[in-house]
Amino acid sequence: MRLTILGGGGFRVPLVYGALLRGTSAPVDEVVLYDVSAERLAAVGHVLEQLAAGHRAPPRVRVTTDLDDALRNASFVFSAIRVGGLRGRTADERVALDLGVLGQETVGPGGIAYGLRTVPVALRMAVRIATVAPRAWVINFTNPAGLITEAMRRVLGDRVIGICDSPVGLIRRAAHALGLDPTRVAPDYVGLNHLGWLRGLTYDGRDVLPDLLADDAALKGVEEARLFGPGWVRSLGALPNEYLYYYDFTREAVATIGAAPETRGEALLRQQERFYASVRRDPSQALAEWRRTRKERDASYMAETRESAHAGERDHADLEADGYEGVALALMTALGHGGTPATMILNVRNGTAVPGLPPDAVVEVPCLVDAGGVRPLSTRPLPGRFLGLVQQVKAAEQLTIEAAVTGSADLAIHAFATHPLVDSVTTARHLLDNYRTRLPSLATLLPGHH
Ligand code: G6P
Ligand code: MN
Repeated sequence: MRLTILGGGGFRVPLVYGALLRGTSAPVDEVVLYDVSAERLAAVGHVLEQLAAGHRAPPRVRVTTDLDDALRNASFVFSAIRVGGLRGRTADERVALDLGVLGQETVGPGGIAYGLRTVPVALRMAVRIATVAPRAWVINFTNPAGLITEAMRRVLGDRVIGICDSPVGLIRRAAHALGLDPTRVAPDYVGLNHLGWLRGLTYDGRDVLPDLLADDAALKGVEEARLFGPGWVRSLGALPNEYLYYYDFTREAVATIGAAPETRGEALLRQQERFYASVRRDPSQALAEWRRTRKERDASYMAETRESAHAGERDHADLEADGYEGVALALMTALGHGGTPATMILNVRNGTAVPGLPPDAVVEVPCLVDAGGVRPLSTRPLPGRFLGLVQQVKAAEQLTIEAAVTGSADLAIHAFATHPLVDSVTTARHLLDNYRTRLPSLATLLPGHH
């Protein structure tokens, strides 16, 4: 079976290959890496080669910068592209911060700018997939993952499924804090990508979340509870996804991120340039360099929010746990022929799963997965405060897709202005202007005045 990874020169690709080498997922005998950068492909190729050393019959690896060639005969396609690279991410964050609003990769105006420039590229790739590999399952990691999955659905329908590692991480932390096996709990999790809540956790037929929420000592073991504080999570009656911090503590987040000498994107840009340059100089050390760089990246993940909330360091268990690759391979295995059906939290078409959201909206909810595909499980209605936020952010996402597809600067301003973290239409206009200045592809995509 052939697995094709779009964005195959990306830093996290060795995590996927490492998980394949552990051999617990569907059998993949060839991995094809596609990227626009031959140099990054070569660097990742070296890391994979060194990872495979000593393994019997590791999956073959082929790298290519030819998209159709990469897609031919693929059974699964992982899409993990970063349009505009980390330099684009620095613009997403900095432009927003300079206007006094949240500067973050996927949440708020940064996520809209990232979405605007990614949608057209993701759609072009979706068309190539539909043409060259019409039977392939497409697992989308590309951020903002809910929005991009929703856009790609226009071409691929139910063949594209979006994933994220944050819900499963939250559930794992909650289960561990109660001393329970995370594979034996059934989560009541609902929302959009990077905007959801764990409202219940059933173990042996009983909801154990109230036990956790009532227990200060156990809550200390859950990063989300440290971020939001025990009082707040108790009064919510739910554990929020870590990304909710940007909505619930916007002021604090903006202040901390704004005061830092570098944004996350700026720090990663430096770190990643160093990594790729060092592999170019000395390919024999590729794996060692990758491991060192990865440790640094994982340890500093969401450091600004933890700092702002005085939440301390990340737990050791979180640094060791499977991330995206675990979710992607579990999904691939459940979709494969002869796979065991599984329940997973995925980004899929809503249908009637979340009352109050459009049927065609992509939501992040528990789903049943088997060889026939993915079916969202229906959820309890969201209370007003949660539903209102989700509806508003979904509206901003849908305006973003529409703006990108039609090339309308006006719709892009609407998308920015609709987002709850943008507090003025004037700011929305400035956001578009400044993003167009910093990101040439946006200036081309969204010409015109307002
Ligand atoms: C989590 C999120 C991803 C996001 C990543 C950012 O894993 O679920 O959607 O891409 O964090 O991590 P980074 O190291 O790039 O800041
Ligand atoms: Mn994510």
